[in-house]
Amino acid sequence: MERIQSIRGMRDLLPADMPLWQFVEGTARDLLSRFNYSEIRTPLLEPTALFARGIGEATDIVAKEMYTFADRDGESVTLRPEGTASAVRAYLEHNLANELPLNRLWYLGPMFRHERPQKGRFRQFYQLGVELLGAAHPAADAEMIEILWEFAAALSLRAVSVHLNSLGCAACRPGYREALVEYFTGRVGELCPTCTERLHKNPLRVLDCKVEGCRRAAEGAPHMLDKLCAECAAHFDAVRAYLDQLGIAYALDHRLMRGLDYYTRTTFELLAEGLGAQNAVAGGGRYDGLVEMLGGRPTPAIGFAAGLDRIVMLLAEQGARAPEAPLVFVVALDTESHKSALSLMRELRRSGLRVECDVRCGSIKSQMKLADRRGARLALILGEEELRTGTVTLKDLAAAESADKQSRVPRQGLDALIRDKLRLRVSEEMRP
Ligand code: HAM
Repeated sequence: MERIQSIRGMRDLLPADMPLWQFVEGTARDLLSRFNYSEIRTPLLEPTALFARGIGEATDIVAKEMYTFADRDGESVTLRPEGTASAVRAYLEHNLANELPLNRLWYLGPMFRHERPQKGRFRQFYQLGVELLGAAHPAADAEMIEILWEFAAALSLRAVSVHLNSLGCAACRPGYREALVEYFTGRVGELCPTCTERLHKNPLRVLDCKVEGCRRAAEGAPHMLDKLCAECAAHFDAVRAYLDQLGIAYALDHRLMRGLDYYTRTTFELLAEGLGAQNAVAGGGRYDGLVEMLGGRPTPAIGFAAGLDRIVMLLAEQGARAPEAPLVFVVALDTESHKSALSLMRELRRSGLRVECDVRCGSIKSQMKLADRRGARLALILGEEELRTGTVTLKDLAAAESADKQSRVPRQGLDALIRDKLRLRVSEEMRP
């Protein structure tokens, strides 16, 4: 029968991929708990109106990329293309603002966008999102960028840089929009068809178009930073002062516009070398109008989302290997030994060791072969003789052939002995 394949742009993450993913996710969880952020999990499916209203009808995401369909009751639902709108919906639905004046939230999970798949771009991809609701002060912007910076540092991501811009507010952005429309109208012949079409609807997006002609046309475009109102300019200066204080290097990027309509003031991205066109590892910014737009009281907020697929790709390209606990493999020579091995494995696992055996219960040769293929560090061999004497034969699979490669040791206190042995090898490996 013909095999069924996964959907284009949606991929399987296989066991061999997972250690790096778990390392990235574990690092995120650990870091965010140290910043005292709380996890939130929202549904993958939301009413379509949430994203149409939240992200903006004119954005590429809403206009072209959403997985939207009528469910069996005829309601229009959408697989979430991002997490900010959902987090804000949940924040309002459960009155989180009443519980705390300041809410620090994070989420991690799959997002869906029907984009053209390419390197680093998938139709199902994974984001770590971080949101801070309830603070208008530039200290909140600094905290957010600091989290992103620390995340990159904790992962030892190389060749990444923070890009920073401000998109102003309802007072100063319309004037900038007009200036942009005027500027690009004089160069409309150089723009790609998409930008020609969006020039009047969404002129800011022309600035970050990747098409060569548009990039050239944008070179002399006016900068938002030159058009900020006094309040937005003061806010931006304060954010920069905080970043300087924290020693976070950043590049001012006049073309950093972001693809979602909810942004106000500070926007930022983490860009990486070596990812090709899809070089944004994370992006975010302030969205002071979104809570109100979704039916809440005016509430300032800021956040970012990091693309985990891209981070894992970068780490793999850097040759990073996720640390894994050494494996202990139990080999049993006959039926009685297999029974005894079950209890032994239980004890060792309860003591915190990673333990496996070959449940096909084949020959010693095939059990040892599997131990080898699984990359086990130690084999514990149990047979008639070991059972009779209350011992196990311990074989160091990583050691070269030598007298102490294999030894008979008492079963009593075995977990401590194994720990000792593993630590010994680590220190041996560290010897110059
Ligand atoms: P975004 O810039 O659309 O922002 O996405 C954030 C990150 O998700 C990107 O920098 C990228 O690493 C990753 N990403 C986006 N699309 C794809 C894709 N098709 N394949 C792989 N990775 C992708 C947001 O989603 C905002 N909600 C961020 C935010 C949170 N702003 C405020 N709070």
